[in-house]
Amino acid sequence: MIVYQQEIKAFYLSGKNYCYLMRVDGSGRLQNLHYGTKIPLSDISYLIAQVGDPVSRELVDLNFYANERIFSECGVYGRGDYRSPSIVIERKDGGIMSEFRYVRHTIEDGAPALEGIPHVRCSGQTITIFLRDLCSDAEIELNYTVYDDSDILVRNAKIVNAGKQSFCLRKAFSFCVDLPDNNYKILRMHGAWTRERTPEITDLGHGIVRLQSTCGASSFGIHPFLCLLEQDCREEKGVCYGVQLVYSGNFALTAERNSFGTVRLSGGINDEQFCWEVRSGESFVTPQALLCYSERGLGELSRGYADLIRERIMNPAFAFAPRPIVINNWEATYFNFNNEKICALIDEAAKLGVDTFVLDDGWFGKRDSDSSGLGDWYVNEKKLVGGLTAVIDRCKMNGLKFGLWFEPEMVSPDSDLYRAHPDWAIHKDGIKPIRGRRQLVLDFTRQEVVDYIFRVIADILRSNDISYVKWDMNRFITECYSASLPSYRQGEFMHRYILGVYELADRLTTEFPKVFFEGCASGGGRFDAGMLYYFPQIWTSDDTDGYERTKIQWGTSLCYPLSAMSCHVSACPNHQTGRMTPLSTRGAIASLGASGYELNVSALSDEEKNACKEQITAYRKISDLVLRGDLYRLSDPFSENCFCEMIVSKDKRCAYVVGEQLRAMPLPNTRFVKLVGLAEGKRYLIKELNITASGKTLASVGVALPKLGDYESFIWHIEEVKI
Ligand code: DGJ
Repeated sequence: MIVYQQEIKAFYLSGKNYCYLMRVDGSGRLQNLHYGTKIPLSDISYLIAQVGDPVSRELVDLNFYANERIFSECGVYGRGDYRSPSIVIERKDGGIMSEFRYVRHTIEDGAPALEGIPHVRCSGQTITIFLRDLCSDAEIELNYTVYDDSDILVRNAKIVNAGKQSFCLRKAFSFCVDLPDNNYKILRMHGAWTRERTPEITDLGHGIVRLQSTCGASSFGIHPFLCLLEQDCREEKGVCYGVQLVYSGNFALTAERNSFGTVRLSGGINDEQFCWEVRSGESFVTPQALLCYSERGLGELSRGYADLIRERIMNPAFAFAPRPIVINNWEATYFNFNNEKICALIDEAAKLGVDTFVLDDGWFGKRDSDSSGLGDWYVNEKKLVGGLTAVIDRCKMNGLKFGLWFEPEMVSPDSDLYRAHPDWAIHKDGIKPIRGRRQLVLDFTRQEVVDYIFRVIADILRSNDISYVKWDMNRFITECYSASLPSYRQGEFMHRYILGVYELADRLTTEFPKVFFEGCASGGGRFDAGMLYYFPQIWTSDDTDGYERTKIQWGTSLCYPLSAMSCHVSACPNHQTGRMTPLSTRGAIASLGASGYELNVSALSDEEKNACKEQITAYRKISDLVLRGDLYRLSDPFSENCFCEMIVSKDKRCAYVVGEQLRAMPLPNTRFVKLVGLAEGKRYLIKELNITASGKTLASVGVALPKLGDYESFIWHIEEVKI
C-alpha cells in the first residue's frame, strides 16, 4: 500500500510486515522517516517531530555538518553530507556537487519493466519520486515497489539528462537509505571457487564496510548481499535488514556508520572505474535492489527473498514446474568421452529414473582439454560419431530428454573463432592478455559478437531436440577495454559487458521458451538474482562433497530459494576434497535443491544403483516442497556438529527434514533439534521415527538427534495427523 499525505508531504509505503516512511522536508529534500516495523499511518506527524528535524533548519544552514544527520534517500557529494554519496554527476565544467529537490511523484499499479536489465515481474504498486538537481541538469526518478504480501521493497533509480550538455555519471547506485543508530552487526558472504557463500557476522563498527566485485561478475569472493542485524537477532528471532541486487556484474554494497551513529546502506553498480556518459535527453537506469525487513530473524528474511525470487523474478514458465532430474557427464568423464562411454552412461542413468542427460564440456570443436575449442560451437564428430543426433537418439530410446553445455561468453586462442576474429576477444593492443583457464573472454559490449553467438547457439537449438542448456562461464575479465568504445566511454565497459550477457540470455530464452536454462560460472561464481531472471536454477558449486555442500547450500539459502540451487550427487572419494561421505548423505543433501547426478553410474554396485533409484523416487515425492515450501534452518554446520534443515509446506500440513552428523562422538550428549516452523496447534507424525507430537512440542522440546557416524545423515518425512 502506498499513501501520500499532501498536507505534510509525507509518503507511507507498506508491505506485509514493514513500512517505509518518507517526507519532503522544508527545503524540498526527500528524507527517510522510518524503515522497519509497521506503525500506524496516523503516526507520521509524530515521526516528523521526532526524527524529521534532527537539527533545526537554521543550524543546517549555518553548520553544514548537520547535513550528516539527515536521513537522506539520495546521498549527494559536495554539500556538507560527508557520508558516501549514492549519485555523483560530473558536469562538463568538472563540477561534481549535487543537491536534489523534490519535484513531483506518481503512484501506479505494477512494477517498472526495465529494458535490457533483469527486474521483478509485474504486480505490486510503485511510487516514482522525481527529484531535480540544483547544481546540474540531472533529474532523478526514484522507484519504490511494494507488495502487500511481501517484506521486500524493490528500489532503483533512473537518472535523466534534462539539459543540453552531456554529463558523466561517476556513481549511480540503485538505492540509499539512512537508519538510526542501533549498534548493528553485519552479515556478509565471502567465498572462493568450491567454497561459495560462507556467511560471516561481525560488528558493523564505525566507518564504511564496502562489499564489492571488480571481476566482471557478481563473483565468488564477496556476494552481492548484505544484512544488518540487531544484536539479539538470531535465525528465528530479532530484527534484520537485508539487501541484495538484481545484478550480475561489478557491484558495490556499502554500510556506513558515521560519527552520529547513523547507518547509511547503499549500493548498486560498482562505481570504481565506472563512468557513464549521459547525453542530452538520454537516461541511465540502475539495476534493482531488493531490500528486506524481518522482525523474525534471518529465517524469515530468507523466506521473504525465496518467495519474491520464485514468484516475481524467475521465469514463471519454470519457477514452480518440476525440475528435471539430470545425469551430467562432467565428473563421470571430464573431456575424455566417446559414443561408447556416453551411451553407457545414458543407458545406466535411465534405469535409475533420471529425466535428462546433460552433455557437458568437450562435445564441440577441438576440445579434448581446456586448452582449445571454445567458440567453435559445432560438434566434434571424431569424439561423437553421428554427432548430437546419435546422442539424442540414444536418450530418446531410453525415454530421456537431452541437455547441452555451452560457454557462450568465451573463446580459446586455439579456435577457429579466434583465428577468424582475434579482435572479438577482450584485449588492449600492446598488452599481453592474461588467460584464465587458458581462455579469453569475448567482448560482449560489441553487438556483432552477441549477434554471432546468438546465431550459432540458436542454430544448434533449432536443429536438435534440446530441452536443457547449461550456460557456463569459467573465467573473469581482465584488460577491461573495448576497441569499439571511444576513450571517454571505457568506464562503461564492465556494465556494457553484462548488458550484452543479458541481451543474449534474453534473446535465447525468448526464442526458445521451452528450453530450460541452467546458469553456471565455474560453479557458483555468478549466482545472483539477475541471472535467476533468465535461468531458474544455477549450478551452486563445483564442490559436491557431502559435507562442504551443507555449508555452501546453507549460505546460499540465506537469500535464494532452494529450487534455484542445482545440487548433484557425485562420486567418492569426492573429486574436490578427497573426502568419503555415504551415498545416502550425498543424496539427502542434494535433495535440498534441484537434485541430479554427476558420476559414472556404470561403475556403481547394484546396491548403490538401487539406492540412487530409491533416492530419485523419494525426491520426486518431495520435489514440490523444494519448489514451493518454506525453509527453516535448524542446525548450523559452521558452529554445530550437526547440519539440519526443514522444508515446510505453506499450509503447514507436511514437512521434510534432512540432517547430517558432521563428526561422530563417543557417548554423545543427548541433543535435540527443535523443529521450528510447524503449526503449533497441529499434531504431526514423524514417519521414520513413528512418533507423534504437537507442533508446539516439536518446536520447543524438539526431537532427539539420532546417534550417527561421521557424515551420516537422516531424513524425516512429517505429516499432519488429525486429532
Ligand atoms: C565448470 C562447471 O562448474 C562444471 O560443472 C563443468 O561444466 C566445467 N566448468 C566444464 O568445463
